[in-house]
Amino acid sequence: MSKGLIQFIIEEQRAAAPGATGDFTGLLSDIVVACKRIAHDVNKGALIGVLGSAGSENVQGETQKKLDIITNEIFIESTVWGGHLAAMASEEMDDIYKIPAQYPKGKYLVVFDPLDGSSNIDVNISVGTIFSILRAPEGVEDPTADDFLQPGVTQVCGGYVLYGPATMMVITTGHGVNGFTLDGDIGEFMLSHPNMTIPEDTLEFAINASNERFWEAPIQRYVDECVKGKTGPRGINFNMRWVASMVAEVHRILVRGGVFMYPKDTKDPTKAGKLRLLYEANPMSFIVEQAGGVSSTGYERIMDIKPSGLHQRVPVILGSKNEVNRIISYHKEA
Ligand code: AHG
Ligand code: MN
Ligand code: MN
Repeated sequence: MSKGLIQFIIEEQRAAAPGATGDFTGLLSDIVVACKRIAHDVNKGALIGVLGSAGSENVQGETQKKLDIITNEIFIESTVWGGHLAAMASEEMDDIYKIPAQYPKGKYLVVFDPLDGSSNIDVNISVGTIFSILRAPEGVEDPTADDFLQPGVTQVCGGYVLYGPATMMVITTGHGVNGFTLDGDIGEFMLSHPNMTIPEDTLEFAINASNERFWEAPIQRYVDECVKGKTGPRGINFNMRWVASMVAEVHRILVRGGVFMYPKDTKDPTKAGKLRLLYEANPMSFIVEQAGGVSSTGYERIMDIKPSGLHQRVPVILGSKNEVNRIISYHKEA
C-alpha cells in the first residue's frame, strides 16, 4: 500500500498529539508545495535561465547564485499566506522575515536554507533544501530575531529535500525518520523509506580534505587514522566521499552509514565553523539523532547549543554512532 506524505503526517499527528489543530500539517503541506516548485526549477535548470551567479552577496559574505534568491522567494511565497507562521528566517536574508499585515499569523516559526550545496548547481550535481520548524514563544505574536534563538532540542520538525536523481523529502517530528520520494506523475511525495536508521558502524567518512592544515589535532588524528587504513592503528581500510552538498552527504549516511565532518578550523578565525546552526546543523542533527546517529561539534551536542545569533556557525560532526563517539573521545583526550 502506498502512502503520501501528508496522509502519513496526519496519521502520525493523530497518534502522537490527538488534540492537534492541524496547523502543523497545514504548514508542512505549504512547505511541500514550496519544495515541489523548487524541484521544478532545479530540474529545468538552464532551460529556464536559472543557473549562474546573481552578482550579489548574502549577509554572510557568500556569493549568491540566481537560484539561491529564486528558491528563497519560492519558499516565502508558498508558506507566507497560510496563517500558520509567526515569522521566518533564512540563510539568504539578513534579518527575520515578518508576515505582512494582509495575512493571518500563526504559532510557528520556520527557518530554512532554500538551496543547500548551491555551488553544485551549475555543474548539475545534487542540491537540497533544509528546514526547521519551531514554536514561537508563548504569547509572542510579533517575533523578533531573539525568539528564533532556541536550542535545537526545541524543534518541532526537521526536514530536508534532496534534488538528486530522484527528489526526496526526509523528515522527523521526533518520532523517527521517514523518507518520501516525489512521484512526478501524480505530484506527491510517497513513503518510500519508512523508519530510516543509521548503521552504528561505518568505514566511510566525508570531509573537505583541502582544509586539513587548518583542522584541530583531534580531527587530524581521526582522518589520518582512516587514511592509513589497514596499515594504520585502525587496521582496516576506509572509503571517502565529499559531495559539497550537506543534504546529499546526510542522505547517504541515513541510507548506508558514514561520518560527515565540517569541523572547527583556523581558516577564518572569526568563524567557529562553516555550517549554520539554525538552518543546517540543527535540523540535520534532529534527523540524525532520531535515526540513531550522533551529532556533535566535537565538544558538545549540537542540539543543546543556545544560539547567540541567527546566522551563527558551528562545527559539525555527525553520523554513525560508534564512529562519531570515537571522534568525540579524541576531542576529550586532546
Ligand atoms: P550552501 O550552499 O547553503 O552555502 O551550503 C554549502 C555547505 C554544505 O552544503 C556543504 O557541506 C559545504 O558547504 C561545502 O563546503 P566546501 O565548499 O568547503 O566543500
Ligand atoms: Mn547550506
Ligand atoms: Mn544555501
